[in-house]
Amino acid sequence: MAKRAVTMDKLVALCKARGIIFPGSEIYGGMGNTWDYGPVGVEIKNNIKRAWWKRFVQESDNSFGVDAAILMNSRVWEASGHTASFSDPKMDCKECKSRHRADNLIEAHAKGKVNPDTMTNEEMEAYIQEHHVCCPVCGKCNWTPIRTFNLMFETSRGVTDESQNKIYLRPETAQGEFVNFLNVQRTMRAKVPFGIAQVGKAFRNEITPGNFIFRTIEFEQMEHQWFCKEGTDQEFYAQFKEKAWQFLLDLGFNAEHLRFKDHDKLAHYAKAACDIQYEFPMGWNELNGIHNRTDYDLSRHQEYSGKTLTYIDPVTNERYIPYVIEYSIGADRLMLAVLSEAYDEETLENGEVRNVMRFHPAIAAFKAAVLPLQKNLAPQAKALWERLRKRFPVTYDEAGSIGKRYRRQDEIGTPFCLTVDFDTLENGTVTVRGRDSMEQIRLDEAGVIAYIQERIAFN
Ligand code: GAP
Repeated sequence: MAKRAVTMDKLVALCKARGIIFPGSEIYGGMGNTWDYGPVGVEIKNNIKRAWWKRFVQESDNSFGVDAAILMNSRVWEASGHTASFSDPKMDCKECKSRHRADNLIEAHAKGKVNPDTMTNEEMEAYIQEHHVCCPVCGKCNWTPIRTFNLMFETSRGVTDESQNKIYLRPETAQGEFVNFLNVQRTMRAKVPFGIAQVGKAFRNEITPGNFIFRTIEFEQMEHQWFCKEGTDQEFYAQFKEKAWQFLLDLGFNAEHLRFKDHDKLAHYAKAACDIQYEFPMGWNELNGIHNRTDYDLSRHQEYSGKTLTYIDPVTNERYIPYVIEYSIGADRLMLAVLSEAYDEETLENGEVRNVMRFHPAIAAFKAAVLPLQKNLAPQAKALWERLRKRFPVTYDEAGSIGKRYRRQDEIGTPFCLTVDFDTLENGTVTVRGRDSMEQIRLDEAGVIAYIQERIAFN
């Protein structure tokens, strides 16, 4: 396989320089593991979320969207198990006081030869001692014992101290789908099997090794719960694996950069679980998860809320709590994968190297850029820009040489550049330059619209 040009440093630099992603709270010296999407990045991320929604809600026979509250009744997190056991095994270096995840230390040391997910805290401590796993910051091997910290961010509700009530920022969007199971089923007259999807923010107080937007404390998830009858669950599990994989291929991923990874250790309630891993610039890691969660979630919410969550089959009158196949992917994690996959450096005939982001056109922030060949063609170019941007997102640039302007668009992945020149004044045609091939054709305005519209759909 050809070596890829992408590295995390190059990606972070390009994202900052081109208005894709900035460090969070930068003018105050930043805030660890937070990132702000810039004018170009917000469009790309919105397009990723749109493509996901189109595939998993709009094009599905029987899937429905919700947008549930981020702040939920605290009992939700008791029922889901997050209050009791949503934690990371953390260790502090006694020498330099830096804090680390024991499982990450082992993973980095063992380079895939052992899987810390299958170890108890005692086993991890023993491994770290026996193998002299040292602090990646100061190089010393002097650790505190493992302590577990709950990953949920706490806040409190109420205006006076007496009425303060501990609540949490949700650590996953999934629970908003589970608690609305019967609301959606009844109002949409949905018959099992059916799905509920949600895209939204989640928050986790995580220690992260700083791989850009791979793992952050605030992030967006795109989650889809498929409610089905026991006995059909493994077939739907296989279908969702296939659908999740195909979605990535359709976004333009090279299958060689993707692989399935079954979980070695299943949660006590799960019947099957796997990830799709992607070869990120820092190595293979989880991109999304697909889980057969059995009837655990709805049963727990039924128990903790005291409200029945039983489904009644309208034909057979059979009553049961459905099984759930969960498909979950982080929008920011997918953004990082999309950016990594799109990044290319191409050496041109004259020896220059151009940076080009080869996004699927549906994902690109702008579908076209209008560029006047010379500044005195700006009025005609601006008029074209104004008409075209009613159809699809278009940007405009008149600063610098045409070659420099092409490069800027290549770096943000704009699939087409439309150059307004003196022939435009004569016959209304413009040059259409393709980002990937750099080939140019001439089309009139109606031709440009049809040409671009045909190429920007996500199907
Ligand atoms: N409801 C199941 C759930 O939340 P998860 O494996 O913890 O499962 C699902 O998260 C997906 O959310 C992951 O595959 C990843 O894409 C994304 N994700 C999880 N934690 C993240 C974080 N701290 N930062 C960015 N994305 C994250």
